[in-house]
Amino acid sequence: MIPLIDTFNRTHKDLRVSLTDRCSLRCTYCMPRDFDAWLPNEELLTTDELITIIDIATRHGIDQVRLTGGEPLLRPDIVSIVSRINQLEFAPELSLTTNGLALSKLSAPLREAGLVRVNVSLDTLNRGRFAEMTFRDRFDDVIAGLEAARKAGLSPIKINAVLMDGVNDDEAVELLTWALAEGYQLRFIEQMPLDAGGTWTRTAMVSSEEIYADLTQQYSLTPVPSRGSAPAEEFFVNGGPHKVGIIASVSKPFCGACDRLRLTSDGQLRSCLFSQEEMDLRKVLRDPNRSTEEKNQEISARLLKTVQGKLAGHGINDPSFVQPNRPMSAIGG
Ligand code: 5AD
Ligand code: SF4
Repeated sequence: MIPLIDTFNRTHKDLRVSLTDRCSLRCTYCMPRDFDAWLPNEELLTTDELITIIDIATRHGIDQVRLTGGEPLLRPDIVSIVSRINQLEFAPELSLTTNGLALSKLSAPLREAGLVRVNVSLDTLNRGRFAEMTFRDRFDDVIAGLEAARKAGLSPIKINAVLMDGVNDDEAVELLTWALAEGYQLRFIEQMPLDAGGTWTRTAMVSSEEIYADLTQQYSLTPVPSRGSAPAEEFFVNGGPHKVGIIASVSKPFCGACDRLRLTSDGQLRSCLFSQEEMDLRKVLRDPNRSTEEKNQEISARLLKTVQGKLAGHGINDPSFVQPNRPMSAIGG
């Protein structure tokens, strides 16, 4: 089948799939505090629909799938989703980004279903701050979840941390020291304007440069060569082998090497987190007037069309930039 190459010659190999827009936390950078525009259940893709889309995408060269949310572990059949993706003819490399709360319970079954690695979001090591940042007092559950993930043999375990001005921006070194001691791979992500509330400001954003400056007060960082399409700029810590990543999505956009597509939990395909347009795949799959074969062909066509329409970059730094009207939790990290 035709590979997913866009008009800027970028070949798309990575599909981020949001399994639900719901979450057990309320991280302020991800959704407004009082957000209540949850998708009704019948609008979410069913597992069969998801598997159909992923199957077709892998036939077009998608070889990496990341399951996200909201919180993907809230999906009741998450273990079966993982195992079905792993059984596809062109099974992609599979990963999952989670807030970690349910890992105590699910790490072992997920590992058994064929999940190898996991990314866990954790922005602070202070229980009180965690509660302030997420509006839920669940810090201990994340730590327990991480331990369960390690015990189940999930590896690597990556930690995603977003630093916010005046909230947790003093924790860069502490987070790295902890991650090194625990054997987790830490990556800092610059906060992006994705809270759908318009509260993000460029000046309040903790930049990759500031993070780098903080870390080098305590550690020596040397760049790891060959970045490819991976968004994290990686550094060896004190000569290696341990690494830390800094994802400068805003201050040093990596759109030129972007190989990602996103599927929202309600079956909308997006070529970028910041797209203003979505392609409806759910409608195709639920069309009573098409045969299975016609549906599959149309999904293929829409994948290609979305990639063809992909813009050069997210334009966060342009004066004309507009935030997407859905929060990160609804689009999928
Ligand atoms: N900016 C940067 N990262 C974000 N995440 C969620 N919202 C934002 C944002 N506005 C992160 C989460 C999670 C990953 C999927 O994306 O912390 O780790
Ligand atoms: Fe939930 Fe992740 Fe959003 Fe936090 S960042 S509210 S854990 S989806």
